[in-house]
Amino acid sequence: MSRNMRAFKNILITGGAGFIGCNFIRFLLEKADGFSGRIINLDVLTYAGNSMSLADIEAHYGASRRYFFEHGDICDRAFVESIFKKYDIDTVVHFAAESHVDRSILGPEAFIKTNVMGTFTLLDVARNTWKAADGNIRQDALFHHISTDEVYGSLGDTGFFTEATPYDPRSPYSASKASSDHLAMAYSHTYGLPVTLSNCSNNYGPYQFPEKLIPLMILNMLEGKALPVYGDGKNIRDWLYVEDHNAAVWTIMQKGASGKTYNIGGENEWENIKLLNVLIDIVSKKAGIDADKIRGAITYVKDRPGHDRRYAIDCSKIKRELGWKQTVSFEEGLEHTVDWYLANPSWIENIRSGEYQHWIKRNYGER
Ligand code: NAD
Ligand code: DAU
Repeated sequence: MSRNMRAFKNILITGGAGFIGCNFIRFLLEKADGFSGRIINLDVLTYAGNSMSLADIEAHYGASRRYFFEHGDICDRAFVESIFKKYDIDTVVHFAAESHVDRSILGPEAFIKTNVMGTFTLLDVARNTWKAADGNIRQDALFHHISTDEVYGSLGDTGFFTEATPYDPRSPYSASKASSDHLAMAYSHTYGLPVTLSNCSNNYGPYQFPEKLIPLMILNMLEGKALPVYGDGKNIRDWLYVEDHNAAVWTIMQKGASGKTYNIGGENEWENIKLLNVLIDIVSKKAGIDADKIRGAITYVKDRPGHDRRYAIDCSKIKRELGWKQTVSFEEGLEHTVDWYLANPSWIENIRSGEYQHWIKRNYGER
């Protein structure tokens, strides 16, 4: 299925009030070549969703009727059906999820509900809505499922995850994402639903909720708090700037083959402790805080149970077949990210209030 046959008139984005979703909506409306359709952002606004992240988009593109927000749960079938009908949805980009590994260890149920049942609900509504009179599913529609490299498990010192690596999820989060990936591919294989799927490595950038490593550490440095490093600090992640992820997803939507998976990664592996030291230098320089003082706050804490040791993505397929590549260096992306957190204290205040604070205190105590 080539791009020419896909409509992209009315794109349903789930989880658009979260970190990657809100960056993707900005990207589609302001940077994506050739997109002039409407975006419908469906989000239930959990602790991780913040409508403030898109306040300017809402004001500008809401007025020109290219952006719509719908408050609701992807598990609510009647509601999802009503959205497909109301906006004549022809494309789904499915970001909505419970996304934090630590939370999945403490309370897996929400992950099963949203990541498994929610994905099933969306797929099944798409299948019914996109069925033509002859019983076949229209092939100019598209369901793009956003997933993670964590479905592949954990690597030793060498090797990379390819699209052919067998699934081996090891946390409730990654097991729930693996399950949703299998459902998406099963709907493609069994019913002919036009599905593409991407498995991406760790993203970072503006609007990321400060429970994830990079924003948590930036804010703790600025506030003089401890910097909690799990285990020996030598776990490895492959970091990608969120804007490069956006471009990869848009590339797959346009040129990706139906029923296929694409790995997306930064080719940018860092041990957590080494990353932290780079971040300390950047924050120290930008915020005028003594680097040694920040370094003194590094605190080794109890390891995450079942902590995956190393992730590393082989993304040669999307590069070779679709022509995508990373454009933002790690140094540049981190500088940008620190600048953004320094410039947006009201966003930080807003997202840290209420449920998030209570949840963190209940589960971890003061951090
Ligand atoms: P996030 O936690 O920042 O945002 C998730 C969003 O989904 C929030 O706005 C939340 O309100 C919404 N949501 C949750 N449950 C919902 C429900 N039942 N109905 C409707 N909306 C709901 O997550 P993120 O980091 O932006 O991740 C987005 C997607 O990308 C996820 O599917 C995640 O698995 C995947 N992913 C993330 C990363 C990463 O590094 N953050 C890397 C690879 C893949
Ligand atoms: O690989 C993609 C995945 O990346 C996504 O699917 C997930 O949604 C996303 O949350 C992320 O998962 P990680 O578990 O890798 O990200 P996190 O930021 O939670 O942790 C990154 C590394 O830093 C990991 O090795 C654990 C460690 N860590 C994390 C926190 C929050 C610490 O040492 N201290 C911390 O306080």
